[in-house]
Amino acid sequence: MPHATRMTGVLTAAAALVASLLLWAAPASADELSGGRLDWGVKESFRSYITGPIAQGEVQTGDGASTVDGDYRFHSASGTYEDGTAVVDYQGWVYFWGHDGELDLTFANPSVEYSGSSGTLYVYVNGSRTDMASLSGASLEASGGTVSVSGAAATLTTNGAAAFAGYYEPGQELDAVSFSADVAVEEEPEATGEPTEAATTAAPGDAVTGAVVDWGVRATWRDYVSGDLAAGAWTVADGAADGGAVFRFAEGAGTATATDYQLAFQGTVAFTGTNVDLAITDPAITATGGNGVLSAEVAGARVDLVTFEATLAETGGVLLAEDVPTVLTEAAVPVFGGFYQAGDPMDPLLIAVPLTADAAVPALPDLGSDPVETTGSEPAERVDADEASAETGLDPLVWIIPAAVVLVLGAGAAAIAIAQRRKNNRRADAETVPETAPSEATPEEDTPDQTGTGDDIAAGPEDDKEK
Ligand code: HEM
Repeated sequence: MPHATRMTGVLTAAAALVASLLLWAAPASADELSGGRLDWGVKESFRSYITGPIAQGEVQTGDGASTVDGDYRFHSASGTYEDGTAVVDYQGWVYFWGHDGELDLTFANPSVEYSGSSGTLYVYVNGSRTDMASLSGASLEASGGTVSVSGAAATLTTNGAAAFAGYYEPGQELDAVSFSADVAVEEEPEATGEPTEAATTAAPGDAVTGAVVDWGVRATWRDYVSGDLAAGAWTVADGAADGGAVFRFAEGAGTATATDYQLAFQGTVAFTGTNVDLAITDPAITATGGNGVLSAEVAGARVDLVTFEATLAETGGVLLAEDVPTVLTEAAVPVFGGFYQAGDPMDPLLIAVPLTADAAVPALPDLGSDPVETTGSEPAERVDADEASAETGLDPLVWIIPAAVVLVLGAGAAAIAIAQRRKNNRRADAETVPETAPSEATPEEDTPDQTGTGDDIAAGPEDDKEK
């Protein structure tokens, strides 16, 4: 058979195989990702440097980002998992300030692109999306309804090095990155968003139900509990939810006008660790003329914890007050072992009271399901296609199409090689480097500006000193 005919035959057969595979497998679609967290501590020595004697600075988190075990936790993933590649955006910011404002650095809304066992970490650095680090050494896991990477080694890119004003070289090792996101399950049409339990339309002042209060207690308290000193943790129960930097107490019932409201909520957040055993249960809010007190059950007694001033304003059928500053009461000083004094700032509150059945309270940062744990020090295995498909609905096309493409490319390459040999005409291969053109979502509006003052951050550095 002449070479040309043989080559045509190979290509035709391969093309037919790919076409039939595609037809069989269509429609291929990306799995939507939501609800999850990305944990990254940037670099331990950098954190120490910022708060140490050289920079004499502060670190703050915002837009739902929190500190957990020394890492910064970003939340509420959105993205896709397709063909073995996860592209995921997270929310929240961490703000580094030091040298009296000479050092003024916001890392916001990180995102990752990851496939197999490598990827890239992007971060908005003072508002500009920057490829910050190359990630490697941990496999992308897809099972149990989550997509996750645990402990990927991170090395600084050239652009990332510029973000640190050249104090680090490209290739510098940074803290490892872990992230997870839930594979979104198709929901009933109206089952989206935060369910509120207000079944009837209420006017302000009437009995209300379905209210929520969000409170993080105190950022430095959480840091203390989860840090080296207490080496502890917190859990939520009985209807409370963990939003990372805030805890949500739900099922609030009572009465509410803009200035006078009495609401009883449900749920417990329990902090435990070395010398720490504090459960805050079923908080209640009582406000008269806008002057409020938040109390809770602590060790079997109701204690006034913080006071605040807040007038609720109706918006979208919800009586709402956000970022309400709070201060510790005298009665609550013993609750925190005397570490804080009466009048010390505690975390701000969000109070939301739905007045109609379809009014939605603001969403809590969504940390998603617990990421799938990888066992021991063994390198994580890439998930089996059948398993992924069965457990998460991840598409077997993830494996089939690349295999088919490899096949046709292989056949094409063989055919081209034959043709090349015949012509005895060498030609260099040009490798196509995909241009990085990720979607340029703008960071959240409340990302701090870069004036160096940090004025737009609810709690200024001086308000939230480390213990
Ligand atoms: C007034 C301006 C600044 C002064 C005097 C200064 C001074 C210093 C000094 C003395 C060190 C060495 C610390 C050590 O070895 O323990 C250092 C480290 C460092 N500085 Fe600054 N710095 C300034 C501004 C900045 C700025 C604007 C950045 C940008 C992010 C920056 C980022 C860093 C980093 C990343 C390190 C290495 C920290 C580590 O991992 O150990 N510095 N700086």
